[in-house]
Amino acid sequence: MAVLKVENLTKVFGATRAIDNISFDVELGDIMVIVGGSGCGKTTTLRCIAGLEDPTDGVITVDGKVVAAPGRSVPPEQRGIGMVFQSYALWPHRTVFENVAYGLQRRNLSADAAREKVTGILKQVGLSGFEDRYPSTLSGGQQQRVALARSAVLQPRLLLLDEPLSNLDAKLREQMRDELREMIKMFGMTAVHITHDQAEAMALADTMICMRSGRIEQVGSPREIYRTPANFYVADFIGACSFLTGVAVETDDESSTFLIGDAMRLRVRTRAPVQPGSKSVMAIRPDGIQIGGAMEANAENQFTATTLRETFLGSHSEYLLDVGGHRLKADSSADLTVGQACRVRIDPAKIVLVPG
Ligand SMILES: Nc1ncnc2c1ncn2[C@@H]1O[C@H](COP(=O)(O)OP(=O)(O)OP(=O)(O)O)[C@@H](O)[C@H]1O
Ligand SMILES: [Mg+2]
Repeated sequence: MAVLKVENLTKVFGATRAIDNISFDVELGDIMVIVGGSGCGKTTTLRCIAGLEDPTDGVITVDGKVVAAPGRSVPPEQRGIGMVFQSYALWPHRTVFENVAYGLQRRNLSADAAREKVTGILKQVGLSGFEDRYPSTLSGGQQQRVALARSAVLQPRLLLLDEPLSNLDAKLREQMRDELREMIKMFGMTAVHITHDQAEAMALADTMICMRSGRIEQVGSPREIYRTPANFYVADFIGACSFLTGVAVETDDESSTFLIGDAMRLRVRTRAPVQPGSKSVMAIRPDGIQIGGAMEANAENQFTATTLRETFLGSHSEYLLDVGGHRLKADSSADLTVGQACRVRIDPAKIVLVPG
């Protein structure tokens, strides 16, 4: 069941088309992550869903109820939506308990019932004992959990998060992103999370939307988007990628061989027929290239490479390789030194043809 339906949403500010006719659904219990570069329309999309902005066109449905349509707008507080912002927007002069309890005041609960709810939720987010502290005495991660608890205590049908991790330092951000996913799942909430950080998007999402200039470039699971990017922009934006351009010299139903430059022949597993003689751009992820082993006679997609750069990351290194005059990125724990020659194999199933 779709908790959120966005249909043909458009938002124009003066001469800026911030959102240009986008449609998507978010299923019950799913975390949808919208990712895209600065200014692509992420916050505007979220604000339209929340009711903080009226769409220029389109229909938004929450839980089967139309909350925005031409000539119709349900006020934000009646949409059953919770929001967590980048700044958390906690009240500095209220304690943790008061911050979390605030939204319950309008709900006609007895003081005991409210206290029980707040205490329960603080326990769930690991903040028991912090009830009387003020936000300024909490770490960034703790403040973020208070902000989440404040939304979760109201049991919204839909939770919207606008870059809630971007104020945290890198290490904490990684930890909080995993915790955030666990907490959203634990509360059984349906969420739309926006970020411009592609690693955060992949780690958090059940489904991802990749946006550019107010439009949706691709919708899919993190695996689908990483492994089968719909176009050059998505391949380049999500995860590391190398690109080669070649001309198809042999093709059959399942694969094609491309000539890249004068000498490099690359076989690619293809999903759709390729016209012989046609030019294509191929996207190769770093995990599609295996480094090491001895050269084999007549093996396809096997090349000699030279290491141009190594970035050691502990569990593995990221290499920039020269393969027949082309620069390719590969991940490996082979411990090569810069300038060292090695053998590489490129997996035909891990090369994707991408429309420009
Ligand atoms: N109130 C407004 N008035 C005029 N233009 C606006 C308004 N709000 C947003 N815009 C414009 O709409 C476009 C999309 O903005 P939006 O804030 O949705 O981007 P974003 O994807 O959230 O970017 P970021 O990652 O930088 O937060 C931008 O060009 C922005 O300048
Ligand atoms: Mg934004």
